[in-house]
Amino acid sequence: MISFDDIKKDTEIDSYFQATNVYLGQMGAIVHDYEHSNTVAENSRRILEALGYPKRETELAEIAGYLHDIGNVINRYDHGRVGAALVFSFLLRMGMDPEEIAVVVSAIGNHEEQTGSPVSSVAAAVIISDKADVHRVRVRKTDFSTFTTRDRVNFAVEHSLLKIDPDLRKITMELTIDLEISSVMEYFEIFLTRMVLCRRAAGHLGCEFELLINEARFL
Ligand SMILES: [Fe+2]
Ligand SMILES: [Fe+2]
Repeated sequence: MISFDDIKKDTEIDSYFQATNVYLGQMGAIVHDYEHSNTVAENSRRILEALGYPKRETELAEIAGYLHDIGNVINRYDHGRVGAALVFSFLLRMGMDPEEIAVVVSAIGNHEEQTGSPVSSVAAAVIISDKADVHRVRVRKTDFSTFTTRDRVNFAVEHSLLKIDPDLRKITMELTIDLEISSVMEYFEIFLTRMVLCRRAAGHLGCEFELLINEARFL
């Protein structure tokens, strides 16, 4: 069985990983480094673990979470679907079972808000974990005058926390936003489609999705 550790130690995957962050850096896009991948991997596993899913499913969520953005090595546009096709070839080479490959690639191919859908519990966990990773440290630019609205909104986030309550079947995203940098409305405007997708993903897991911004409830 291919483990999360096997994926992390694979030198081919690692080369693409490093190239991805370099290319995105050239575009000034927000950081997609090991930290983002590891955060998404860990939270994806944590969500399914907390909700009592089988161990192997939690590991597949971890693998999909870790690899979800690797399609950016080819192009930022449509990186979810492109990444799914790339990961397909890696996992095939490594000898993963087709049933498991299907779970991983469908989650990767469905993580983008424009075209994604929570097609499985693994896909739902990756969607929520990816969208919850908004934070100031991910903004690469240093000159505020060159910030896009998306940069500004990310930069405004001082804390983000994902909480899972298995008893209440509730997944909560808690954000602390610096209102001098971005208004809550501006945040919401940018992230509304993401939050709607998170709500659908939580629904797939039999949970309610809650968004708290500066302790006020928005969803
Ligand atoms: Fe992505
Ligand atoms: Fe991502």
